[in-house]
Amino acid sequence: MDYNQLLQAAIEARKAAYIPYSHFGVGAALQDATGHVHHGCNVENAAYGPTNCAERTALFRAIADGCAPHSFTALAVVGDTEEPIAPCGVCRQVILELCAPDMPVVLGNMKGDMKVVTVSELLPHGFSPEHVNKA
Ligand code: THU
Repeated sequence: MDYNQLLQAAIEARKAAYIPYSHFGVGAALQDATGHVHHGCNVENAAYGPTNCAERTALFRAIADGCAPHSFTALAVVGDTEEPIAPCGVCRQVILELCAPDMPVVLGNMKGDMKVVTVSELLPHGFSPEHVNKA
């Protein structure tokens, strides 16, 4: 699947967003090593804090379905933003944990703008699994 197709999958995933509070829908599409695409959307909560972003929904869903960490080939994220969407800091940390540093992350918006960055560009100097217990 090329980047445009993966962004289309994220746009499709966004339709399921549960957003009674912000009304700001986000969709994510995560391609695994077999080519299968895992959809994610944001799922909000009346207590706000438990809200799960689209990116984490897709990643946690794929891990729960048995995918190995660092086996993913690309992640696309889309929202109705002026510029291609910027994932939040918590999602950047989770992406760094579960995806290879050189994996492409395709950021898009509903107008069709697209920006492709790697995981390490998204969270430079990040705290990652290899830092734990290595002090
Ligand atoms: N949100 C995401 O799902 N992903 C992002 O990259 C940015 C923010 C969600 C969280 C919340 O439901 C809504 O967008 C507004 O912040």
